[in-house]
Amino acid sequence: MTVPFRVATILWGTDLHLDHALDSARQALTDRLRTVPADAVIATGDLSVASRLVADLEFIADAAARPLYFVLGNHDHYGSTVARVRDAVVELGTRRPEIQWLPPAGVVMLNRETALIGVDGWADGRHGDPLTTPLLLNDDRLIGELAAQRTRAAKLVVKRALADADATRLATLLDRAIATARRIVVATHVPPFTEALPPNGRLAAPEWLPLLVCEATGAVLKRVAATHPGHEFLVLCGHTHVATDVLVAANLRCRVAGARYGEPAIRSVELS
Ligand SMILES: [Fe+2]
Repeated sequence: MTVPFRVATILWGTDLHLDHALDSARQALTDRLRTVPADAVIATGDLSVASRLVADLEFIADAAARPLYFVLGNHDHYGSTVARVRDAVVELGTRRPEIQWLPPAGVVMLNRETALIGVDGWADGRHGDPLTTPLLLNDDRLIGELAAQRTRAAKLVVKRALADADATRLATLLDRAIATARRIVVATHVPPFTEALPPNGRLAAPEWLPLLVCEATGAVLKRVAATHPGHEFLVLCGHTHVATDVLVAANLRCRVAGARYGEPAIRSVELS
């Protein structure tokens, strides 16, 4: 899929949690989406919850009046199932082609040198100890495929299957993007690298590790970046709500945007 214009700037929002936003916060977001110049909007997950996700995606797209590309976060599935939410966003993209879930959107050329791809990403418990950490996310009881599993070990199997499927999809998308672009922007929800986690504060505790990183997508990104030193990779993600910006390798940068419940924020990113 190709955007028929040259994009120099995108508006990037993550963890908007619009189900927590009052009308005043939604109005402020609308004003910003309408007035800040950019050629596309990228949302990297946890936009809402399942029952209102489609309406909230349409709200963003209507306010922005430009293409909206997004990946799904764990919260976007709350109250439903992964399967049903995916069906809903694919149907939305058919009805409103300017609103595209990134994995099926394929490689989006933002300008002649820059491609955008994305996968959701799931915390896969491959860092830290996922079976003994005292911390639990609501994912385990609010996402159907996870709630259906009775033990932590069984839930972990499902999370790893989701993460591994996204990693496989990411590898395919990267191969295609590398063939057509020198700079590749990867949108994903869960940080793929421990390096992108907050270096201090509450989330720096080791018991958070299994819940905050998608090792599967990170391994793919590190391998592809190492084997393509002439390409630049920029990963945009969220999930932790704590802003970080790290160089994981010379040609692999990862940014996590900060977020606060009730204060949906969107920022400009220069791509050239
Ligand atoms: Fe999240």
